[in-house]
Amino acid sequence: MWGSILYIKMVVSLSVEKSTIVIASDHGAFELKAKLIARLEKLGFETVDMGTHSAESVDYPDYATKVARAVSEKKYKRGILLCGTGIGMSIAANKWPGVRAAPVYDNYTARMSRMHNNSNVLVLGGRTTGEETAYDILETWLNTPFEGGRHNKRIQKISDIETKNGDSASKEVK
Ligand code: RB5
Repeated sequence: MWGSILYIKMVVSLSVEKSTIVIASDHGAFELKAKLIARLEKLGFETVDMGTHSAESVDYPDYATKVARAVSEKKYKRGILLCGTGIGMSIAANKWPGVRAAPVYDNYTARMSRMHNNSNVLVLGGRTTGEETAYDILETWLNTPFEGGRHNKRIQKISDIETKNGDSASKEVK
């Protein structure tokens, strides 16, 4: 019995880094945001909710900025953003240096966004993704490690777009 408890503890500590997750949404997804916060807390994560808290119309770039700036400035390692489709939040969040925001619609894209892209911001659509699918996506995204290897070079090229005008990304393409 103690062996299996130890095994479960090891799997949990290896797969899930229990850091604080910063999260925000616009009016298109504030209900799904509340459900994800409850799920995150059940999983043992602390959360910082940066709004919005009602159906009153707001501008998604304002909320994308709250989370993306915090991740970009390394105040938090991982963030979650939600809007109606996930598209506007992704576009806005990815303007911030060091932010790799991934609009994810299923388990496969959730897994790949971590394994290949080392995504540090998960983006979901409150009008496109149902509650149960969102929970699955969330757990997959939290539990999947970055694969590293050949993907490190590619992530570095993304950083170079931010810091060196994309020189390393363009020089290998004839
Ligand atoms: C708001 O109506 C909607 O445009 C927004 O939530 C999001 O889907 C934008 O990409």
